[in-house]
Amino acid sequence: MKIGILTSGGDCPGLNAVIRGIVLKGTTTYDFEFVGIRDGWRGVVDADFFPLTRHEVKGLSKVGGTILGTSRTNPYDGPHGGAENVAKNLAKHGIDAIVAIGGEGTLAAANRLSADGIRILGVPKTIDNDLRATDYSFGFDTAVNIATDSMDRLRTTGDSHQRCMVAEVMGRHVGWIALHAGMAAGAHAICIPEVPMSIEEICDLVTSASDRGRAPLVVVSEGFKLKGMDQAYSDKGLDAFNRPRLGGISEVLAPEIERRTGIETRSTVLGHIQRGGSPSAFDRVLATRLGLHAADALVDESWGQMVALRGTDIVRVPFAEALGELNTVPLQRYEEAAALFG
Ligand code: F6P
Repeated sequence: MKIGILTSGGDCPGLNAVIRGIVLKGTTTYDFEFVGIRDGWRGVVDADFFPLTRHEVKGLSKVGGTILGTSRTNPYDGPHGGAENVAKNLAKHGIDAIVAIGGEGTLAAANRLSADGIRILGVPKTIDNDLRATDYSFGFDTAVNIATDSMDRLRTTGDSHQRCMVAEVMGRHVGWIALHAGMAAGAHAICIPEVPMSIEEICDLVTSASDRGRAPLVVVSEGFKLKGMDQAYSDKGLDAFNRPRLGGISEVLAPEIERRTGIETRSTVLGHIQRGGSPSAFDRVLATRLGLHAADALVDESWGQMVALRGTDIVRVPFAEALGELNTVPLQRYEEAAALFG
């Protein structure tokens, strides 16, 4: 069987490790032939394929980004021709099935193509950890490590100047990165989309840390909305993907904290640093295991399903289980971290 592999949506540390896992097991234990699909669904709709052998995946588990390239193209959008065009391009190149590695948007397209008769298997990916069908997604641990290290660094400069430091981390809809990195770095306030807070509540935490002689450290997810200040934030408008424009909530918070508390405050947006570079050892192992199990799932022809982490096991779940509701931070988990705020 000839299998096409694609990575779609935002890149994520560990993508290459998945690709390596699939190709190594798929060509040594089994007898698959693989092709790489360039730039996600864009490569499917344009029939942009290339041979993917053991040689191309050599040494890849530690390499960040994706050797296949990625895009946010949706095969059902506008002129892309939907399932009909996908089926035509796959048939023309003798490709029997696709492995799609991606987040919610990618899996939604995969689910629809699967319903339209295309043979597809999925591998979940997101640094945000917002897919509910898997306990953790690879990329998340790396992002948390980068954010934690950055906050440790903000801390020493904040301590030296007795300043309040506000660190903005990724997390469009959910606060997992902020929660874990904030807990690891000992933040005095963690602001996440699931738990709206007022500026007064944040300033109280800042003042209380400062009164205890600490330089306050605040971590905020990019998707956080301040109670009562929705308008100021939503005025930032929509981006090219018709979602709220991201980045910058820390720049709204910092001057407001300084004005209300009188504590000099600086903000830092960590941005795409959190997605770049080598995956952590945890993510390399998780991504590799997902790749190995994806190769097994190809043998079993588990179309319409994705591999996922449950506890310590890799299991298979239907696409539909990953779609719809997001994996948000439960209040109880937030309260564990909040108990440390002081
Ligand atoms: O979904 C992953 C993610 O990194 C989010 O945390 C972030 O909001 C978004 O992608 C950024 O997307 P882009 O790279 O297109 O700016």
